[in-house]
Amino acid sequence: MLRIEPHDAILGATIHGLDLRAPLSDADFRTLLRALGDHCVLRVPAQALEPRHVADFSLRFGQVQTSVSGKYHHAEAPQVGILSNIKRGGVNIGIPDAGQDWHTDMSYTATRGFINVLHAVEVPMRDGRPLGDTLFADMRAAYDTLPEAWKARIEGLSATHDFNVFWQNMVNRPGSTRPPLTAEERAKRPPATHPLVLRHPISGRRVLYCNPGYAERVNSVGEAESAEILDFLFRHQLQPRFQYAFHWAVGDLLLWDHLATLHTAIADYTADEPRLMHRCQVMADQVFQPEFRRQWLDAA
Ligand code: SIN
Repeated sequence: MLRIEPHDAILGATIHGLDLRAPLSDADFRTLLRALGDHCVLRVPAQALEPRHVADFSLRFGQVQTSVSGKYHHAEAPQVGILSNIKRGGVNIGIPDAGQDWHTDMSYTATRGFINVLHAVEVPMRDGRPLGDTLFADMRAAYDTLPEAWKARIEGLSATHDFNVFWQNMVNRPGSTRPPLTAEERAKRPPATHPLVLRHPISGRRVLYCNPGYAERVNSVGEAESAEILDFLFRHQLQPRFQYAFHWAVGDLLLWDHLATLHTAIADYTADEPRLMHRCQVMADQVFQPEFRRQWLDAA
């Protein structure tokens, strides 16, 4: 029997009673969607999963996006991307620096991202403590606590999100091994525009939908005003009071809601402290559809 244990924090809950090697029942899928709307970050502990289980679970929520380079996908389940600092024969087995700054996955696509699913295969440990936390920030709280004048100012405004902004910031980091995007890769990820305020498709709450990783320009205002608005919103949304640190354990499967959170991966481990995650990036192609709401969210 599935049981939800909320964390004593602004975000997060642990889900007990699930074995994701078996197909998810409709009733459990409904419960997980509701829990995602309430807690945004869900931990399903002690899951001994093959990559195909991670893919099957993720595909219940929507289509899965694969990497722009076509590299670092699992041979047995191509929807599953590999994130890792491990090298074999001097070659990285996965993306070594994924998500290492504040962002929201797939805000740069017209469809937007819905959830990420990460399964922890290897977690770096030092002195008995896990390294490589993932930090989250709650964009429901960020919106709710905006001064009323700012809520009025951004209502109806949209921003352009560009995949290349985050990518190029990573390329520019000292010691980075990322090559710049090729023209072909840039063409695969054209910029997208989204309102700065969204109504969340599950909770119905208003969320602040912009992030320093990809949002580069507020539309329909001058450049200086765009920079002023983004600077204010980025500083507001990253206040420690909205943040939650997730400490990984081997076997954790974590799913989180991109529409209501920002996240960043903390690279506080060395090359000798292996980290290996299997990831599916799920698009919001279904969750905004009226049919999805009727089938999964309105049902008793
Ligand atoms: C991500 O941004 O998807 C990766 C997060 C992590 O590895 O902690």
